[in-house]
Amino acid sequence: YRAARALTVSPRVGPNRVQDRATEQPEAHEHFVNTPDTDTAVAANRTWGRAILERSADSDLGRQLVADSAITKPESVDGLVAATRAAQPEWGGLSAQERARVLRVAAASLRAAREELLEVMASEAGKTLSEGDAEVSEAADFAEYYASLAPELDDLGFTPATLVLVVPPWNFPVAIPAGGVLAALAAGASVILKPAPQVRRSAAVVVQALWDAGVPRSVLRLADVAEGDLGKRLVTHAGIDRVVLTGAYETAELFRSWKPELPLLAETSGKNALVVTPSADLDLAVADLVRSAFGHAGQKCSAASLAILVGSVAESERFERQLVDAAASLVVALPQDPRAQMGPLIEPAAGKLLDALTVLQPGERWLLEPRRLDDEGRLWSPGIKAGVQPGSPFHRTEAFGPVLGIMAAGSLEEAIELQNATDFGLTAGLHSLDVEEQELWLEEVRAGNLYVNRGITGAIVRRQPFGGWKRSSVGPGAKAGGPNYLLGFGDLAPFDLDA
Ligand code: SER
Repeated sequence: YRAARALTVSPRVGPNRVQDRATEQPEAHEHFVNTPDTDTAVAANRTWGRAILERSADSDLGRQLVADSAITKPESVDGLVAATRAAQPEWGGLSAQERARVLRVAAASLRAAREELLEVMASEAGKTLSEGDAEVSEAADFAEYYASLAPELDDLGFTPATLVLVVPPWNFPVAIPAGGVLAALAAGASVILKPAPQVRRSAAVVVQALWDAGVPRSVLRLADVAEGDLGKRLVTHAGIDRVVLTGAYETAELFRSWKPELPLLAETSGKNALVVTPSADLDLAVADLVRSAFGHAGQKCSAASLAILVGSVAESERFERQLVDAAASLVVALPQDPRAQMGPLIEPAAGKLLDALTVLQPGERWLLEPRRLDDEGRLWSPGIKAGVQPGSPFHRTEAFGPVLGIMAAGSLEEAIELQNATDFGLTAGLHSLDVEEQELWLEEVRAGNLYVNRGITGAIVRRQPFGGWKRSSVGPGAKAGGPNYLLGFGDLAPFDLDA
């Protein structure tokens, strides 16, 4: 790890250099400073961004590493698990301070790779620059933050898991794999990262950045394992001590059906609503609703899928017009178009999402009907449907795409009931300037991440630890980017299957 220690912040020529210097982190997490996103008010940064987007059209980044990491035989799964376990004692035997030092270099390395990460995310995930940029900052934050927590584990007499498997989703191809991997590394475990097939090259660029920072290749392995029998063999392998899953609740259930005692740390689905009361700043509510519903084309477990409008807000033609106009004004395009504000779906709309985009249930009507803008079915203009009925499919089912449903409530109490009446509890929002309403809402609403007068996506590491209740979480339930997350990676975690 000598090389890692020698490297502090990767010197980088280019517009982000100023930022990268500015985000060298102090040691103590009391003074934790989050990594800023690229400032697009700076003209040079816009030129830099456009060049990235142009390259992304035929980007090859990560391809070779993905090819090298393909696992195609059952024996190779067993070999990979054995070899990665065998590498752990050296890493876990370092003091937490020493691991933290490597993780701080990893943060710098991720920031230095911002350009490559943006290119590969635009290329394979359709991420716009601003959405991708926030992911790179979040990934670097995870590295800094878990580095700051790691020394506390030594004081607790914590024994890390030997081998952690990280199974991330496709919608956050950098921040989520990085978060799982960095937490496991901070705790002292070895890690296998099995990327989502749609975004395996992004995972490869993350892994390369961590190797460049001095994380040993033997301790962190990228394994492109096909979903199916090989995937099942890996997930249920006796040599895997923890599985960090971010994905659909059904996937967590599937994993548990394969192996009921599987030690899962899973962040799963959401059906999230933002409540707007008559006391709200309605202009702000519109802006936050649009961002939360249509950012990354709604493909976020945290996305606002429902707006629950209280009393006169539900009756307000002005509010309705502002909301619809704001959504209709979004530029929907492939991310290579620098004007794009909403990019494509990663897979053509099908199943529940296609229904949500094309079918109205009794009582519903389109305020803004979504239109398919390409032959493939990946580019859709945003949709807003009014009249969503309590208990209807759209009230209760995650759509995971660019469609927002509107429900009306007579009172804040009724709005909260509607907000709580789903199987999930990931994010929830309230727009209200009335302190009593805020207090009532904070007391009664049942979700992991509660936001008042703010959008409901884009949790910030350490400021807003991220994780859900009910079917939005499976496992001990500690939140990513929060103070006790690392405990899940060692012998102190309460693995209560019903938690
Ligand atoms: N952490 C992301 C958000 O807050 C979702 O995974 O939007």
